[in-house]
Order: sequence, then C-alpha cells, then structure tokens
Amino acid sequence: MPKLPFKTLKDLKIKDLKGKRVLVRADFNVPIEKGRVVDDSRLRLAIPTLEYLTSRGAKVLVLAHLGREGGESLAPVAKALGQYIKVEFSKTLFADNQFKDMTNGQLILLENIRQYKEEEQNDETFAKRLAGLADIYINEAFSASHRAHASIVGVPKYIPSYAGLSFAKEYEQLAKAFAPAHPFVLILGGAKFETKLPVIKKLLPKADTVFVGGALAHLLWRKMGFEIGKSLVDEGVKGLVDILKDKKVLLPIDVVVKTKDSRQIKKPDNIRKQDNIQDAGPDTINLISDKIERAKFILWNGPLGNCEKNFTKGTEAVALAVAKSKAYSVVGGGDTVVAIERAHLSKDFNYLSMSGGAMLEFIAKGTLPGVEALR
Ligand code: 3PG
Repeated sequence: MPKLPFKTLKDLKIKDLKGKRVLVRADFNVPIEKGRVVDDSRLRLAIPTLEYLTSRGAKVLVLAHLGREGGESLAPVAKALGQYIKVEFSKTLFADNQFKDMTNGQLILLENIRQYKEEEQNDETFAKRLAGLADIYINEAFSASHRAHASIVGVPKYIPSYAGLSFAKEYEQLAKAFAPAHPFVLILGGAKFETKLPVIKKLLPKADTVFVGGALAHLLWRKMGFEIGKSLVDEGVKGLVDILKDKKVLLPIDVVVKTKDSRQIKKPDNIRKQDNIQDAGPDTINLISDKIERAKFILWNGPLGNCEKNFTKGTEAVALAVAKSKAYSVVGGGDTVVAIERAHLSKDFNYLSMSGGAMLEFIAKGTLPGVEALR
C-alpha cells in the first residue's frame, strides 16, 4: 500500500478530539426530488467519520454544497442523514456565538456553503472565517476535492487538517491505478472525451488494454473515416491520433443502432446517415469480456451505451464480466455505478467510487487541489 501523502483522522487521539470543535467538509451533493433525497450513498459514506468524531466527544460542524448556484437548501439532506446519526441543521453558516456552546458529541450540518460566492472564489477572508469555527479540519469530500474552493483548499491553511476515513480510502483505491497488477484493463465509456482523454494518456503506458467505448468511440470511428450517422459525439477534442495508433487501444467492433423504428446490430462500415449508435454490440461484448477474464486489475469509468434511454445491455454485460473475473476492480462515475447497483452486482466489485469528475482528474493528474491542501 503506498504511503498516504497526508494525515488522516486516525492520527488523532481521543484527547485531541474530546471537546474540540471539528469542521468536516463532506460531499452531500445528492439528488433530491420533491424535497427528498433519492440516493443517499454519499451520506452513508460519511457516517463512519462522523461517528468516529462524535463518539470521541468532538463537537462536529459539517460543511457541504448542493447544486451549482447555492440556492438549494441542505435541509432535506439533514433529514436523510438523521436516519443514520443524530444531527441538527443550522440555516446559517456563521452563528453569533460561532457555535461555541455546543456540547461534546453534538453534530450540526450547516446550510449550503455555495450560498456564499466567496466559497468558489476561494476568498481568503472567507476561508479564515470558516477556519475560525473550529480547532481541526477534516476533508471527507474527495469527490469535491477537484474544486479549489475555500472549504476545500482555503481552510486547511489555517487549522490542523486531516483526511476523513472515506477520503483516505478513495485515495488508496484510485491510486492503485498508478502501480497496477497486470494485465491491467482500463475501460472508459460515457460521452465527455475532454475529461477522459487525459486519463487515457496518463494510463496508456501502464495499461495492457484500453477499451474506449460508449459515445467516446463515435469520435474515434469518425476520425478513422467511418460514418457515425446521428450518433452523439463530443466535438472539438484534439490529440486523438496518438491514441488510435496505439495497439493497446481497443474500440467497439459492432454496435446497436437505432433508426426511426428499429434496432439493429451493425459493424462500423455499415452505419448509415440516419443511424444513431446507442450501445455496444455482442461481438464487442465478447471481445472486452475476454480481456476482462484474463485481467488482474480493472479500472472502469463510464457506461458503454445510452443507459438513460434504456440501452443498458452492453454496460450490464461488462458489469457481469467484471463481477465474475478474479481481477481487482475499481469502478467510478455515477451512471456506471448506478448500472452496477441495478444489476445487483455491487458486492462483486472491490471498490465503487462515489467520485465523478474528481476521480478522472485525480487519475489524470495524480493528485487534486484538496489532496495538496492536506499535505
Ligand atoms: C460532484 O457532485 O461531483 C461534486 O460534489 C462536485 O460538484 P460540482 O461539480 O458542482 O463542483
């Protein structure tokens, strides 16, 4: 196991925590429908750290964001969190008494930090004010640590700072890709090439097979001169030629296309102008399953088909192949994890990451602003 480049919660003794105010940055950016949290995975992820702190007598304040504009309230999140741990909710971020009258073991979730524009600007005065709320800072928001915001990189400048339990685990698991067991199979799907190209470039020298599927493959096929019809494509991405030259890179060899009123399996040279590629075909699934079967380490991010429109077969088949394989498997990206959960295969994976953009950026760069801030 590589040495962690930061201290974690476990480095703190009971005497360091008892009666101390601890500011925890969590990632509670969760889907809410009609005032109710519909997926509480990210809440459950933070519970061990919150329990660790409260059970040792710390006075815990939790900072989190929701959405982009800061207008949404975290009140439904406090309610959902309450199913797992006793928590109060504060509509204000800064109380007159700076929460100084809290009791040992008390836990308060503070309102959406993005209501302050200073958060995203990483304003120094704002970061100092946040740091003034506590004696210790814990980052338990790996999945938001690609943002150089005040609550991620500003606060650690002013008070002793540590990684939370799930932050440290996420780091350890994703960092396995930098020293992988071989054969190492990297599987990338989804649509946004811009965030995945740096991952391919970084891991190509280490990987034995890089399978590029989903809508990412449409652009590569077009680059190779194939018709892709009306298929989704991420325009304006440069630097693909080198990838295409590399023998380790595999693309789909057949796909499921949708025309006005039919679904058909087609080879790349058979796609017509009216076709819309929606999923990986059976030969592609066999090709990738064969690589998966022999792999010792698998890293996967992004679905192989348009899961939102119910083209889930390719993604489910790959999920099943990975679940059956003996390889160590690390998977991330919202849609991919949802597909695995729907297929009831979660327990057959070694690690499911709750990070989307942060996972890709961490792998591409080897670090994140939030990781650096804890060093
Ligand atoms: C996420 O949901 O991926 C993180 O919470 C980051 O959210 P953001 O993209 O709004 O910064």
